[in-house]
Amino acid sequence: MKPEKITTDVYSLRVNHFNRRLFDSLIPLPEGTSYNAYLVKGTEKTALFDSADPEKAAVLFEYLKDEKKIDYVIAHHAEQDHSGSIPLVLERYPEAKVVTNPKCKEFLMTHLHLPADKFIEVKDGETLSLGGKTLEFVYLPWVHWPETMGTYLREEKVLFSCDFFGSHLATSSLFSEEHIVYEPMKRYFAEIMMPFRSNIKAHLEKLAKYDIAYICPSHGPVHANPKFIMDIYRDWAVSEPRNKAVVAYISMHGSTYMLVNRLVSRLQEAGVCVEKLNLDQMDEGRVAMSLVDAATIVIGTPTVLTGPHPKAVYAAHLANLLRPKARFVSVIGSFGWGGRAVETIAGLIPNIKAEVLKPVMIKGMPTEADLAQIDELAALIAEKHKSLPACG
Ligand code: FEO
Repeated sequence: MKPEKITTDVYSLRVNHFNRRLFDSLIPLPEGTSYNAYLVKGTEKTALFDSADPEKAAVLFEYLKDEKKIDYVIAHHAEQDHSGSIPLVLERYPEAKVVTNPKCKEFLMTHLHLPADKFIEVKDGETLSLGGKTLEFVYLPWVHWPETMGTYLREEKVLFSCDFFGSHLATSSLFSEEHIVYEPMKRYFAEIMMPFRSNIKAHLEKLAKYDIAYICPSHGPVHANPKFIMDIYRDWAVSEPRNKAVVAYISMHGSTYMLVNRLVSRLQEAGVCVEKLNLDQMDEGRVAMSLVDAATIVIGTPTVLTGPHPKAVYAAHLANLLRPKARFVSVIGSFGWGGRAVETIAGLIPNIKAEVLKPVMIKGMPTEADLAQIDELAALIAEKHKSLPACG
């Protein structure tokens, strides 16, 4: 493996993990992922930006086999998919210092047991010269940990953005192509970044003053089209939700499914875009992605014993963690003899600051009167969405 040149004296050491299928024992990775390290060579010093997941450390060291000296390891983030091989890097390059902010230093000492004397602490906006290459450190907290930062390389107009603008995409292409990277980026945003939309808005404003030619994230390909990438982040994080409803459901004997089908038909007839998700085969990333721009979330659940179906509970809990910008929520479903499915779901989503539209919980198989309630719910959703931008 040879480092790939991005621009003058800036190299990608992308460690692809094509076969990884799960991240954090939670997030599906249909297209694998990559852990991106970068190398920047000044006339006096050489800096390695981040490392790789320790499982793939051998690939990182293959890239570094001709590198005799590393002066600095720039640690943007303490999570182990990027920091986990730093102890091995320091073993091989004992003269190297880890350059990071105080919070990240604390985390690296806790998570990797790095000794305090290995660090150089930097402040937000502080610079470090490699000789003809000036690194400016840019704090970017809460995308998605509190210690995360980026680095702007002034002479080459490169932003090393860490997880920010990343995508879980293993690829042999150095640079991103918009039609390929869009979906993996959206999936990544939904799973990792969506709960921190207000931080993202602030960071986009902070980065507006930089002239950026390349964005080098810690996952996925390098972006040579920063405007496209920053615009879609702005859309996902800041813009109003779209005229779209997510109907996430599970059914046991078909009654809830009948309600779901009726709702979806009526919404579509009223001009509302609908994403219908069967939670029976839940892809957490798919569920998360659907929530990025939806104005309404409807959970369809049967009643199991006295509560909602556990898969509906899981989806509601996941949505609550992800804090989507939905404005309206509701619950539909059926029960055999009783239960508190609606109350349980409502109690699971306190982080979603949305208006609750009157739930429709019915006994047994839906009657015409029950379906008429669904029609009313669909009409209400369509009315609520009237002023929202079109989906798409
Ligand atoms: Fe890719 Fe938050 O680590």
